[in-house]
Amino acid sequence: MSTYKIAVLEGDGIGPEIMREAIKILRFIGERNEIEFDLKSATFGAAAYFSDGHPFPTETKRVCDEADAILKGPIGLNHEDSKKIPVDMQPERGALLPLRKRYNTFANFRPVFLPQGLAHFSPLKPEIIGKGIDLIMIRELVGGLYFGAKETGINEDGKRFVNESLEYNEDQIKRIAKVAFDTARKRKKILHNIHKSNVLKSSVLWNEVLEEVGSDYPDVEVVHILVDAAATYLCLNPTQFDVMVMENMFGDILSDQGGGILGSLGLMPSACVGPNKAYYEPSHGSAPDIAGKGIANPYSMIGSVAMMLEMSFNMDEESKNVWQAMQSVFSLGFSTPDLSKPESNLELISTEKFGDLVLAELKKT
Ligand code: NAD
Ligand code: IPM
Ligand code: MN
Repeated sequence: MSTYKIAVLEGDGIGPEIMREAIKILRFIGERNEIEFDLKSATFGAAAYFSDGHPFPTETKRVCDEADAILKGPIGLNHEDSKKIPVDMQPERGALLPLRKRYNTFANFRPVFLPQGLAHFSPLKPEIIGKGIDLIMIRELVGGLYFGAKETGINEDGKRFVNESLEYNEDQIKRIAKVAFDTARKRKKILHNIHKSNVLKSSVLWNEVLEEVGSDYPDVEVVHILVDAAATYLCLNPTQFDVMVMENMFGDILSDQGGGILGSLGLMPSACVGPNKAYYEPSHGSAPDIAGKGIANPYSMIGSVAMMLEMSFNMDEESKNVWQAMQSVFSLGFSTPDLSKPESNLELISTEKFGDLVLAELKKT
């Protein structure tokens, strides 16, 4: 019997609610494959700050270091509550970015997927969606503005100032470009490179290195699109995209737009992959506006489990089964409230019921 150690960081807001359902699915997969998923929970985020005095406690680092993979719920507080925590201890700066840095999880995969049968969830018209939306955004996750030098202070004129720099070196660009080309090669062999080289020198270097890497992938067509235009095309013609690659900040923004064209951020799982460790998290945040109500959509968290099964444990079949089970629950006419529209005839269900139904569907596979 193989054993996989998984660190479970449930996080803040809706984190615990959606994690509970994801764990239900993971445990079932373990049982039926005679795999022991050795789950170790650890505190992380604002909850950890209040309970342990730090958003990424030493004990959590140890649990993560020892794990084969990390499953992470969203972290963060609403705008007002965030102010109760010193800026550098806030969970985004104090926990999430350090987690990404610690494991050098430079490749962030954010699939934006909606089969034709579920097109009614999208705010886009059916003629725009066509046969469904199926693209993947590959976001560089440990460089750029997020990790560049930062300075704040008072300038010579006595005015407050801030200086944040967008930093990349060619190795950082090369490794994410390779991941993007490899992914494109396995899919439709078309790669959309998202950039802003008409203004940013970082994009000039990015494009230069990406093209150099591309010479090893003559079978993959590269299309360069400015990031602002890409935002429009995602609404007007999303089916032109298959694999999109971009730097950290562009990826943060466009991937939330990805959730928007699907109909909810609750449909956005993700994988964050480094050279030696990967962690899996929804793309969205802790949704403070609905936390504690039992209505959050756990698809993103269960989808993150599906990505972990495939990418960390090579359990491709079971991963597909989990995706399929979730699609089936929707096809049967159930949904959490985030996906409902006034005219839709859906039976609205709780986070827990969604998890139970996914489990029931999974048992049929
Ligand atoms: P958010 O993603 O938490 O919420 C945006 C909207 O989407 C809200 O209306 C929310 O209810 C809805 N939503 C998100 N996930 C949902 C789900 N699974 N089911 C149903 N509805 C869902 O963004 P925000 O409100 O801007 O941020 C809240 C906090 O989350 C902030 O502190 C932010 O820093 C943090 N955050 C964390 C992560 C992360 O942990 N990776 C990602 C994004 C934001
Ligand atoms: C995400 C989030 C994070 C990011 C925040 C919480 C630091 O928005 O994972 O998309 O900006 O990367
Ligand atoms: Mn984001």
